[in-house]
Order: sequence, then structure tokens, then C-alpha cells
Amino acid sequence: MSLYTLDINGQKQVVDVSDDTPLLWVLRDHLGLVGTKYGCGKGLCGACTIHLNGVAMRSCQLPVGAAATGKITTIEGIAKKGKLTAVQEAWVEHDVPQCGYCQAGQIMSATALLASNSKPSDADIDAAMSGNLCRCATYTRIREAIHTAASK
Ligand code: FES
Ligand code: FES
Repeated sequence: MSLYTLDINGQKQVVDVSDDTPLLWVLRDHLGLVGTKYGCGKGLCGACTIHLNGVAMRSCQLPVGAAATGKITTIEGIAKKGKLTAVQEAWVEHDVPQCGYCQAGQIMSATALLASNSKPSDADIDAAMSGNLCRCATYTRIREAIHTAASK
């Protein structure tokens, strides 16, 4: 076990875990940040997507030790002072979620995409979002919402 001081959503959080504990476990089980979801646990579904230094990462595949020196952002931390981001507002406008389980990961990937490409094409969106699976097949609404967010 090791003590880690993590920078999560702008706050320091101290956890005592083994070095190879996946960040997803730390977020959900140690810190109660359950907005980040467990899907496959194998890096295949995208439900656990967070940002590490602004880059979308699969937290189920990220050992806590590898994330300890970076800035971690989860779905709980992207809205600032209670104001939804353009991506979150577009998700509401297009009524994107169905069951909702995958949607935190979808929003985190979409947010990272728009941070690096402010006017993505359909092909850009499909490429960036291809690792985020949705069993409810909300892909068309996700794409429309990303275009709406990009227009704002
Ligand atoms: S739970 Fe991490 S990619 Fe599926
Ligand atoms: S909204 Fe149900 S899995 Fe995506």
C-alpha cells in the first residue's frame, strides 16, 4: 500500500492503495465519485473515461500510480460553479441519454474531442468516439449533440 495525493477536479485527495489499483476503483470505491462507470473493466467500452491532463483516458486501465502526478477530471468536475458546459447543455437539448449508463464516458470523450478540434466533422466524431460503446445505440444523438456543442 502507498499513500497518494491525487489532484481530482481541482481538489487534493489522499488515498492509501496499492500501486497497481486502477484509478476507476479509487474514484468509485475510495472517493465515492460514482459518476464514472464500470463497464467492461478491460479498456473496451469507454464507460470509465476520465481526463488526465485534459486527455481522455480509460480509468479502468490506468494504475493509480500512473495518474498520481497529473490533473484528473471526472464527470463531476467538468461543470464549473454549477454551470453546465456546452457539451452537457447539448446533451440535454438533444435528449441524448436512454438508460444513461454510458453517458458520463461519452461526455468526457466528447469534451476532450472538442478541446482539441473545435469543429469536428462526422468522420472526426466517429473516430474520436468509436471507443465509447452505447448499448442503447444513442450514437446519432451523440453526434448531433457534439455538432451543437461545437457551434456554441
Ligand atoms: S470499464 Fe473501462 S473501458 Fe470499459
Ligand atoms: S444510453 Fe444506455 S448504454 Fe448508452
